Amino acid sequence: MRTAVYPGSFDPVTLGHLDVLRRAAGVFDRVVVAVLANTRKAPAGEAAARAEAIREALPEALGGLAERVEVRVFEGLTVDACRAVGARHIVRGLRAVSDFEAELQMAHMNHRLAPEIDTVFFMTALEHGYLSSSLVKEIARFGGDVSAMVPPGVAARLRASDERGPRL
Ligand code: PNS
Repeated sequence: MRTAVYPGSFDPVTLGHLDVLRRAAGVFDRVVVAVLANTRKAPAGEAAARAEAIREALPEALGGLAERVEVRVFEGLTVDACRAVGARHIVRGLRAVSDFEAELQMAHMNHRLAPEIDTVFFMTALEHGYLSSSLVKEIARFGGDVSAMVPPGVAARLRASDERGPRL
């Protein structure tokens, strides 16, 4: 069985992430989405909620391929998460050339740490190429509509947590 790990902050998960996940699930027998707990971008306590948001979005976003996907929270190195679940591949998405440099560095570093593990890149669909979790959060914080950028459950939660309203 070919297992891959798709690591990330997923803060929050976007339609771009789910598109990459769907492509990966079409290639690998099992894809473990590894939600990073100790990200610099979000408090550790939110990791379980970020993971739950992904689980909730799977049936609609992936259909039957959702059966191949597990979502887990992890702390520490991505290569250790891979070893823990028996994965020899790391999945990452590329939206544009600007992603490439940082991703190349990470892929080389992970390969140096674990030579048996390779990183595989999937190109995000063109219509999701502009999406980023931080922009989604910023837009939602100021009351903008993010319903075309994230799964419905995430959009609803972001709307509910928007208490600021417009500022002039
Ligand atoms: O969604 P992100 O924030 O771009 O994901 C980055 C992530 C989680 C893949 C990266 O920060 C990571 O792998 N963190 C775990 C710690 C680690 O293994 N660091 C060395 C990477 S070369």
